[in-house]
Amino acid sequence: MNKINIIQKLIPQKPLLQQAGFGFAPSNIALCKYWGKRDLALNLPYNSSLSISLADRGASTKIIVNDANHDVIIVNDEKLPLESAFAKRVICFLDLFRPPKLFFQMDTHINLPIAAGLASSACGFAALVIALNQLLGWQLEDKSLSILARLGSGSACRSLWHGFVEWFAGNAEDGMDSCAQPIQEKWDMLCIGLFIISSKQKPITSTIAMQQSVANSKFYSSWLEKAAIDFHHLKNAIFSRDFDEFGRIAESNALAMHAVMQTSWPPIYYSLPQTIEAMHKVWAARAAGLPIYFTQDAGPNLKLLFLKENTAQVQELFSQMQVIHPFDEVVA
Ligand code: PMV
Repeated sequence: MNKINIIQKLIPQKPLLQQAGFGFAPSNIALCKYWGKRDLALNLPYNSSLSISLADRGASTKIIVNDANHDVIIVNDEKLPLESAFAKRVICFLDLFRPPKLFFQMDTHINLPIAAGLASSACGFAALVIALNQLLGWQLEDKSLSILARLGSGSACRSLWHGFVEWFAGNAEDGMDSCAQPIQEKWDMLCIGLFIISSKQKPITSTIAMQQSVANSKFYSSWLEKAAIDFHHLKNAIFSRDFDEFGRIAESNALAMHAVMQTSWPPIYYSLPQTIEAMHKVWAARAAGLPIYFTQDAGPNLKLLFLKENTAQVQELFSQMQVIHPFDEVVA
């Protein structure tokens, strides 16, 4: 099964070309991580995952037809060289949907550090499919857009919605059952603190890191067992507003994912000394009674989890942190 087969199943044959397409998608941070692909081409995961979207932090994309015979890719007002890795990735994705002899101009603004484990590719691909849906007049529902976004970047399928989102791993070979859906549960008191240690490009992509983990970490099967249990218990903790249980599961899930990476060969280590230092700060604060937890993705930065009532204490510890209120109304 390849991407083209999936696209033929989902997209109407004749596009109804419009003047322009616009899309916004929030970035999302997994609390129960997606780690490992059962199908590399279709970005199908071995395990289900659960995320929280970052309100107005994400990607705003405009797409129009370009009159010249090449695509134009603009990110944060900078025209990318067409041979750059990111432009190539976007152009390959556009190729999947390209009507004959048509080229695009994609203009994206991402208000987060790019490629630093803050899910900029997730919101980028999600915003792009929303914009394409408009430009090419597909009129697809969110579930189909989630599947299409997954073809660009796995975690992008969760960026179609605000709030908590779950992505079912599914088991169909074509992945038509592997899409995300929102969890209808608002937790107004929940805060995410973005603690940015480095915004540098990551040394190894998450795709390669996942492949390596699946291929040779002895702990990979234990990861899958843990992820299944965490997914279930995390949802219960959300529904019962049990913050300590919620934080404990999210933090231990992230640490388990990193343990899998660290035990693959060659080992993958995204943390920097400042990451470990920040973890110790969290643990010391928690031991002193402050309910604060963290999660970490494929990068050195931490995302802190805490409740609104503790914002001042957390801010005192992590003065550089940017606070996100995931359930605040997003002004379009
Ligand atoms: O969607 P990708 O290929 O960028 O992989 C995302 C991997 C993690 O961020 C580490 C976990 C996740 O579920 O988002």
